[in-house]
Amino acid sequence: MNKELPQTNSESARVENMRRLLAERAKAPADAPQGLPGIFYNDSAFFDHECKTLLRRGWHCVGRADELLKQGDYLTLTLLDEPLLIVRDGDEIKALSNVCRHRGMPLAEGQGQANRFVCRYHAWTYGTDGALLRAPRMKNAGFDPKTCKLGAFPCTQRFGFVYVCLSQDAPDIDRELAGLGNLIGTYEPEKYAVVYAAAEVWQCNWKALVENFMEGYHLSVVHPQTLHGYTPTGLSRKGPNGAGFTSYFANYPDDIPSRGAGAAGLTKEERHRSTLFAAFPCQVVSVAASLLVSLSIRPLTPTSIEVRWTMSVYGDSLDGDTIKQRIALWEAVNLEDREKLEAMQGALKSVFATGGPLAEDDYEGTVRDFLLWLAQQDSA
Ligand code: FES
Ligand SMILES: [Fe+2]
Repeated sequence: MNKELPQTNSESARVENMRRLLAERAKAPADAPQGLPGIFYNDSAFFDHECKTLLRRGWHCVGRADELLKQGDYLTLTLLDEPLLIVRDGDEIKALSNVCRHRGMPLAEGQGQANRFVCRYHAWTYGTDGALLRAPRMKNAGFDPKTCKLGAFPCTQRFGFVYVCLSQDAPDIDRELAGLGNLIGTYEPEKYAVVYAAAEVWQCNWKALVENFMEGYHLSVVHPQTLHGYTPTGLSRKGPNGAGFTSYFANYPDDIPSRGAGAAGLTKEERHRSTLFAAFPCQVVSVAASLLVSLSIRPLTPTSIEVRWTMSVYGDSLDGDTIKQRIALWEAVNLEDREKLEAMQGALKSVFATGGPLAEDDYEGTVRDFLLWLAQQDSA
């Protein structure tokens, strides 16, 4: 039974106890790592603490740059209760607040293209740079449209991904991702074009999906028909990690042909594996010679997430039928993972869900990297 977390009615005392336990778990020896107790995946006060700290100040992938190529291309999303309007404005992609400066109506929905955003409540009109262009009948002497520009958040692009941070004091993304370029640069990730995007709500904690996607330990057990044939657990190898990312290699058996040629500079090994990385806190990616799949995890509650995933293809390396097959394969794989995570979510409320020992580096070293990152963020 979990004696490390004394029962307490005070939420702040409970969060403090959990923070202490997180720091302790991070100090476990590298050859005896341990996961986190179930309460870390359930507790609403701890979830609020995460939202205010590491989730709020982290960089979040909101899509691929090629989804926003033309002037006025936009997509909308809600990230940690913050409605966002991601829009192409000339040479830049901007992350505007999707909240009208008049009385707070969302300005746009879904995905599309627009030169102006007209609020459907009282018709205030904004440009793609967020400036208020028109506010009908606003004749008050004190009204100054310049003070009513839409809010904006830090937004940048790396490897063809668009990243947004909800803190104006965003961390240096190049420091966070230092080393990732060496790992995936030869795939030429910015040259993959989106062929499919979908979003769904899963009933699990956000950390559970980061961990699940990032460990090869479950591959042969959970995905016997879909993945085991070309990325069996036994061939998983830990990859490099950096300040804000971790990685592993899902290698293909020797007798399996490589799956598409991809970029000219790829080595034989790079063509013969999928490279999986997590850009903390909430993005997980699998990149292979012809295919790039990225999941953006949006925490909704302690026990639910929105998952938006995109599939992108390198140049014209796959034909239409093959792309359809790959989409179906990934839908099947995601469903297999989702069923496991949703079943586990309920069991994590047990007093016996104490966080067990983790497997060695090649299988669960990435889960340990994530735990160390969580602890490091919490002490920052
Ligand atoms: S709330 Fe947008 S114009 Fe009034
Ligand atoms: Fe999986």
